Amino acid sequence: ADATGETLRTPIVAVLGHVDHGKTSLLDRIRGSTVIEGEAGAITQHIGATAVPLETVSEIAGSLVDPTDFDLPGLLFIDTPGHHSFSTLRSRGGALADIAILVIDVNDGFQPQTIEAIDILQRTETPFVVAANKVDTTPGWNPQENTPIQQSYDAQSDRARSTLDERLYDLIGDLSDHDFSADMYWRVQNFANNVGVVPVSAETGEGVPDLLTVLMGLSQRYLKDAMAIDVDGPGAGTVLEVKEQKGFGTAIDVVLYDGTVTADDTIVVGGTGDPIVTDVRALLQPRPLAEIRTEKRFEEVDSVTAAAGLKIAAPDLDDAMAGAPVRVLGNREREDVVTEVEAE
Ligand code: GTP
Ligand code: MG
Repeated sequence: ADATGETLRTPIVAVLGHVDHGKTSLLDRIRGSTVIEGEAGAITQHIGATAVPLETVSEIAGSLVDPTDFDLPGLLFIDTPGHHSFSTLRSRGGALADIAILVIDVNDGFQPQTIEAIDILQRTETPFVVAANKVDTTPGWNPQENTPIQQSYDAQSDRARSTLDERLYDLIGDLSDHDFSADMYWRVQNFANNVGVVPVSAETGEGVPDLLTVLMGLSQRYLKDAMAIDVDGPGAGTVLEVKEQKGFGTAIDVVLYDGTVTADDTIVVGGTGDPIVTDVRALLQPRPLAEIRTEKRFEEVDSVTAAAGLKIAAPDLDDAMAGAPVRVLGNREREDVVTEVEAE
């Protein structure tokens, strides 16, 4: 709860960008995990979700943030695939986002799915920062594990610095060609009108403290009012995947973006046929920092409040559909909620 006693919802941060530019690697660096190693063909093929508590954000950001400046509970990161064939999943991820990270490989620059991601962010009016990733591949780079970017920059040779500068300016030029006024994040005063560029390396962790600091600052400054929602209201979310869950039957992976769902609730879920009206059998929550897509161990809980990734097990979910809405019925008329789900 913040100073006014309201409970603030966790902001949802979508990670978008061209294939192989390092979205999952960046999240692995933040989680301290190796999700990327388990990916078939080393490409992401589904939307993922990971809750990162404020504690972890402050730990990584270190001296760059004062945790008492923040009263948001943390960040919920949504990983998306960059491969061109998954444009539906990118739009879905973008639609869930409160803010976003556009990941661009500094060597590779703007690529087709970078532009596609920008179009999604413009269409959904989602504020974003650019993570200019793979700075460690600059020729002659002297890696400084997990340090803030300016400290790491100061430790580089003149030649490495000027090569990186050139690449970053090219990127800022590309952004301006797409009508975004952009600059290095430490020069941006007003993030509402300017896109901040954060040089990072998912490989060495350089710049990751800066990235998290910028995200928390943006959320706190621009999203706080939007996050002051009635988190006790009936839950609303989107189905990510429909999967068998050992011991529970068919379950749906869900990103809950509003309200609360409890283990006693009736839910309405969009399906291949008519909306499915069913009673929750179990709510399964991944531990903090776990990627819901790959996690094996879940905690059975009585209730989950937005924003969060969770599994919902219930009868009759076989025809539930990825991308479809999930609504808690609450004390509303069943017909109204069914119509709402059908219309979405
Ligand atoms: P898709 O999900 O398929 O779109 O790819 P992605 O954006 O998630 O990229 P991923 O994290 O799978 O990384 C692609 C490759 O780039 C992997 O081999 C990573 O090890 C490598 N990589 C990612 N970030 C960095 C970085 O900062 N530096 C270096 N040197 N390599 C990186
Ligand atoms: Mg990936």
